[in-house]
Amino acid sequence: MSPTRRAALAALFAAPFAAAPALAQTTITIQHPLPIASHYGAGAIALKESFERATGGRYRVNIQRNDNEREVVESVQIGTVECYLGSTGPVGNFVPAVRVVDVPFLFRDYAHARGVLDSEIGQSLLQQFNARGLVGVIWMENGFRHLTNSRREVNTPGDVRGLKVRTMENQVHMRAFSTLGALPTPMAFSELVPALQQGTVDGQENPIPVIVSNNLNQVQRYLTLTGHVYSPGLLICNPAMMQRMSPADRTAFMEAARAGQQANRDKVTADENSGVEELRRRGMQVVTQVDTAAFQTALAAAFAQYERELDGALLRRIRDWR
Ligand code: PAF
Repeated sequence: MSPTRRAALAALFAAPFAAAPALAQTTITIQHPLPIASHYGAGAIALKESFERATGGRYRVNIQRNDNEREVVESVQIGTVECYLGSTGPVGNFVPAVRVVDVPFLFRDYAHARGVLDSEIGQSLLQQFNARGLVGVIWMENGFRHLTNSRREVNTPGDVRGLKVRTMENQVHMRAFSTLGALPTPMAFSELVPALQQGTVDGQENPIPVIVSNNLNQVQRYLTLTGHVYSPGLLICNPAMMQRMSPADRTAFMEAARAGQQANRDKVTADENSGVEELRRRGMQVVTQVDTAAFQTALAAAFAQYERELDGALLRRIRDWR
């Protein structure tokens, strides 16, 4: 066969394949700090399914675990990871205005917290991320935090005195624990279990879904349902990544984020309903009757400081929200 004819035949067979352009796929990585079976996992999976379906395979959402929340927010800011799904724990160090929602006993219950965060108050807090090189996409949820420790049953604020308590890298929370006479020790969640095992800290505080999904009952004997602070979650993404999306894809992403928020909150609700019983079954000693007013009184000096250092008017608006 002549070289010319061979080339013509090769072109003929190659043509149908060459005519179908390869599908360009963009990957968005979402990092979160908990097991996939947790409330964050539920939110991330719902977002992934919704967004991948809506964009017909042009986007792939890659869900990864990273227990160091501060590190993830930094990665999103510099653009090596596209999105963060986690608590507000370290976020006030990047966007100081957010610290207001970390104040203890600010939210009465889940309906109050979800209502405020979905309202214009929560939306205007999300707007503040833009000036910090981040996009605050939507509020998610971690849950009301409770105190665990390996030393003693905590019934009163006085029982907290002298306990070494791991806190998040969060100044508002640290202030509360030092006001109660505890020794707050901030560290990333990735360091928590070894610190509890080695006795570097006696206790920690986290929502029931976190205590259950991370088997913290294996390293903590006592649980007191202090509900001392609501721990908001949120989805934060890299601005350049958001800008590269077409307007239609951005709308689909927002819709997927809302599906993620719903799945995340539903899982928190379900885990809250079954979690305490599960932790008792696993051997934890649980104090359910807590004198909330006594804890609030013991925190008076911290509250005065929050009023001065944070946005006092906004704190009152949130407290009075109905
Ligand atoms: O305690 C923390 O650091 C957070 O509550 C956690 C477990 C990482 C979830 O956001």
